[in-house]
Amino acid sequence: VVVIEESNIDEEAKKQLKRAGDIMKNGGLVAFPTETVYGLGGNALNPESSKKIYAAKGRPSDNPLIVHVSNMDDVEKIVKEVPEAAKKLAAAFWPGPLTMIMNKNDKVPYETTGGLDTVAIRMPNNKIALGLIDAAGGYIAAPSANTSGRPSPTVARYCVEDLAGKIEMIIDGGQVGIGLESTIVDLTSDEPMILRPGYITADMLIEVLGTISIDRTIIDSTSTQKPKAPGMKYKHYAPKGDLAIVQGSQEKVIEYINTKAKEARAEGKKVGIIGTDSTKNLYEADIVKSVGNRDDESTIAHELFKVLREFDDENVDVMFSESFDENGIGQAIMNRLLKAAGHNVIVL
Ligand code: TXA
Ligand code: MG
Repeated sequence: VVVIEESNIDEEAKKQLKRAGDIMKNGGLVAFPTETVYGLGGNALNPESSKKIYAAKGRPSDNPLIVHVSNMDDVEKIVKEVPEAAKKLAAAFWPGPLTMIMNKNDKVPYETTGGLDTVAIRMPNNKIALGLIDAAGGYIAAPSANTSGRPSPTVARYCVEDLAGKIEMIIDGGQVGIGLESTIVDLTSDEPMILRPGYITADMLIEVLGTISIDRTIIDSTSTQKPKAPGMKYKHYAPKGDLAIVQGSQEKVIEYINTKAKEARAEGKKVGIIGTDSTKNLYEADIVKSVGNRDDESTIAHELFKVLREFDDENVDVMFSESFDENGIGQAIMNRLLKAAGHNVIVL
């Protein structure tokens, strides 16, 4: 594990980034911070590296990886063409938490795209990540740096927990800024479509493109259709204990959760509750955590995965969480929370 501060990339840090880049040029893997979550990186143009990534994560190999770049010229080199919409979105949001799907050319191996003719590309807004991409030769394939199925790591210690001994290096750049994975937009058909909600919201995309559609399967839990982003079909973000999301008026939610927590504890179970800053003190359980402040939902995005991981650390058996509005970034928060709970929602 190597520690680098994003705000202070000095000569020593540059040396470490070069060393990490060399590891990837030689086919090895390095976990590193981005502004969204930690990534598990390998050379995106080397099929053997991509195979290693799937193996280290225990991830099904039909679930494609995101290729991380540091500049626009490098995008042109790996796609058939850069759509107009991609140019506009890149100008507005890159570097940043937006991934765009385009038609790939022969430079990108099918091992990286899970057999698809399209490739997901993102330019992360983190100086450590950007320095590393350059040091590695321009293209880093990186899924989130967690064991497949577990919550994505937002601090380095959870990369260590999942990947130590399986990869060559972990770069600790502190807790990430955003905390949820990038928004994914498909630009390969006539109408741009959101395949995964994230910090860049539908409204922000509409402001640039004039229009956007959303893959219904990711907002409708009863849909039996296959999601267009293969990764969205897998069980995901799941903590070890059972998690239920409770919806209703604040008063009813608190009363219900406290009653259920008491019952579970009477059965000898360890109970955790995910509240918010304003409700945290109103709950009783073994562990009560605030996931953030409802008046600023980015605080909730920032803490969600970390809180889920902390409940794992504490071996909690049963968890209850408050629910959040699906506006703006709330759509991404609820998308992740619903998956973490296996769509176990209690409506009061
Ligand atoms: O914020 C992020 O995007 C983080 C950081 C590390 O950059 N990465 C990340 O990667 O979340 P991962 O592998 O956990 O999620 C990638 C998602 C999966 O759901 C995958 O199915 C989808 O992107 N995806 C990748 N390539 C695709 C393609 N060609 N077509 C459709 N979906 C694709
Ligand atoms: Mg992931």
